Amino acid sequence: MTSPSSITIRRPDDWHVHLRDDEMLLAVAPFTANVFARAIIMPNLKKPVSTTADATAYRKRIINATSKSAGGSGFTPLMTAYLTDNTSAADIENGFKTGVFTAAKLYPAGATTNSESGVTDIEKISAVVEKMEELSMPLLVHGEVTNPEIDIFDREAVFIDRVLEPLLSKHPALKVVFEHITTSQAVHFVRAQGPRVGATITAHHLMINRSDMFRGGIRPHLYCLPIAKREGHRLSLIEAATSGEKSFFLGTDTAPHTVHAKESACGCAGIFSSPAAIEMYAGVFDDAGALDKLETFASLNGPAFYGMEANSDEITLHRETWKIPETIDVGGGEKVSPFMAGSEINWMIS
Ligand code: NCD
Ligand code: ZN
Ligand code: ZN
Repeated sequence: MTSPSSITIRRPDDWHVHLRDDEMLLAVAPFTANVFARAIIMPNLKKPVSTTADATAYRKRIINATSKSAGGSGFTPLMTAYLTDNTSAADIENGFKTGVFTAAKLYPAGATTNSESGVTDIEKISAVVEKMEELSMPLLVHGEVTNPEIDIFDREAVFIDRVLEPLLSKHPALKVVFEHITTSQAVHFVRAQGPRVGATITAHHLMINRSDMFRGGIRPHLYCLPIAKREGHRLSLIEAATSGEKSFFLGTDTAPHTVHAKESACGCAGIFSSPAAIEMYAGVFDDAGALDKLETFASLNGPAFYGMEANSDEITLHRETWKIPETIDVGGGEKVSPFMAGSEINWMIS
């Protein structure tokens, strides 16, 4: 099959983004806002975005940071609530009904970056989850168990059996997004659930496996959570993303940390992919001979799951080689290093 030299798709949305705050927000947000029309904004700031008031204030800061960038004036941040053991169902309901919250995020306490205030036991938020089920408000989950006895490479698969499957059985109408899936078990599970369960898939989990983290030495910039898995899982993710099935949609999980924080004796988890995200997805779909499915994955399935219209404008990507920058300045003398820094990429936004 010959592959086209350019492709035009409806403008995509990014259903999983970390924009951080302050100077980092100012530096990284334009990469998302210049390409994507909307993004689900993750609430795991150092002080979590857990109430409607927090989200209203954070949304303003994001709009300030993106309104001056090229395509950014049309950018809509979709806010999420960081669930804690003490989240008030009434505040979640109010935030959702007033259009501040699009969804709420479940971080099992200790599972990932800034998750210390997360939920210690899913039973503790059952009133909130019941309210969300009633409202058809999506619950977004970081799907890993935190039990230190469970091997890090098994934490997602074990989460399905111990937490997700029982949660979905208990709440038969609850809408759930299984975020940043990394395993063939997750692909199979999501497929078996029907339309109320969706899954985001990152560009990096489509591009690297666990050996890549150690290719020629330890590569802290490829460390994220959930951690990359074996090659067979990566191939399952490619098959799912390029299948056109409605459950699977784009979520970069772009998660910047400073070079200092990554290149450390205890480096932070998170891969900063927004400087070339849609271009990298295009490369993956191209290599899989599935460029014709890119629009479905990047621009149609996400809005359909969230009950929104697809964007009406379009973007065009063409085949042209360019180099991903080594670093990006984020103020205070700090830098962040993008995913695939210094590498060549074969798709460019026209
Ligand atoms: C994310 C972050 O840095 O905020 N890190 C990551 O490795 N993915 C948190 C998350 O999405 O789990
Ligand atoms: Zn996560
Ligand atoms: Zn994330």
